[in-house]
Amino acid sequence: MKFRAIMGALCAAGLMCGVSAVQAAESIEVLHWWTSGGESKAVGVLKDDMTKQGYTWKDFAVAGGAGAAAMTALKTQVISGNAPSAAQIKGPLIQEWASQGVLVPIDSVAGDWKKNLPPQIDKLVQADGHYVAAPFSVHRVNWLYINKAALDKAGGKVPTTWPEFFAVADKMKAAGIQPIAMGGQPWQDLTLWEDVVLSEGADFYKKALVDLDEKTLTSDKMVQVFDTVRKIQGYFDTGRTGRDWNLATAMVINGKAGMQFMGDWAKGEFTNAGKKSGTDFICAVVPQTDKAYTYNVDSFVFFQQKGQKAATPGQLALAKTIMSPEFQEQFSLYKGSIPVRLGVPMDKFDDCAKKSYADEQVAIKAGGYVPSLAHGMAQPDAAAGAISDVVTKFMNSQEDSKTAVQALAKAAKTK
Ligand code: GAL
Repeated sequence: MKFRAIMGALCAAGLMCGVSAVQAAESIEVLHWWTSGGESKAVGVLKDDMTKQGYTWKDFAVAGGAGAAAMTALKTQVISGNAPSAAQIKGPLIQEWASQGVLVPIDSVAGDWKKNLPPQIDKLVQADGHYVAAPFSVHRVNWLYINKAALDKAGGKVPTTWPEFFAVADKMKAAGIQPIAMGGQPWQDLTLWEDVVLSEGADFYKKALVDLDEKTLTSDKMVQVFDTVRKIQGYFDTGRTGRDWNLATAMVINGKAGMQFMGDWAKGEFTNAGKKSGTDFICAVVPQTDKAYTYNVDSFVFFQQKGQKAATPGQLALAKTIMSPEFQEQFSLYKGSIPVRLGVPMDKFDDCAKKSYADEQVAIKAGGYVPSLAHGMAQPDAAAGAISDVVTKFMNSQEDSKTAVQALAKAAKTK
């Protein structure tokens, strides 16, 4: 059999379509933190896709929600000259890595991305006019997940305001149900806190967490935010120290707790457990945030391999696959997110994802589409880390809200 015939046969068998034998041998090392049930299933789609195209997938998974441990591992790898082919990086951190001169551009596969991405995201995945990151999907952060049976047992209704929320939480408590499942890492504290900041309005959120405006950070409204967080903490159980987010989600899935504040990667866990929205659980928007949308867009960047300034065929294939409509659909179905690529059909998605999509369109037009601070979209690492420390200190001590806002304003100046 001639070479082309062999390749044709392999392609017909679903293997190695359109790649040369040299490319087929390329192994791509991929660093990410998608290790929970739903997350693994979603990244597994990419692994299968790349394997079908003839590449060898070397999985470099570093457990730990929101990626703090993964980012530490990545720094060690790059410094020691062992940068992976691709790594899960997002938000302003993309530019920070690009400015180190260690990334490769992927422009040759990004020809139609501009017209297929929301402008905010299109800007984020470029550095110095070149595409350097491939975006996966849009996660909405401001969700509250509720166990339907627990809500019914407590005789409560889906809360849309904080007073309604506390009323439901009290009813659950009275019915012997742990009202809130909460995990125990700083990023989970920050996720809840930014939800409460958002509940004071998208403009307030933007002034506080995007512009880092000192007046806003020390305002009475911000004192109120800390007071509300303190009140919400009264409904946590005592076992949250060190608890992973997906274990908190499991508490809501199996009815050990009534509610969880978490972005929609939590929905990936419900789906993975065979649970249905509306019947088994409810995805509600965080009280008083229905017109707003905190976005969190995952992406991969691509590192220079062996000093080469151009992307390898495997890296380009990976970027191209991530942005393909078919992949975008299947990945988000498992992950709990919605496709970041515009125009991907939503008919296979559940009500929660359809709501996310509809609310996203409204929020983009009305100015309520804001980047998540807790998930690395709003600020460079240094400022985000300093703010996170303030929030975690507050949530793990008896500090009063006025002291916290002063510390917050100071942390915001961290460069
Ligand atoms: C987020 C990430 C999501 C999800 C979550 C928990 O920061 O964007 O994709 O993985 O962490 O690990």
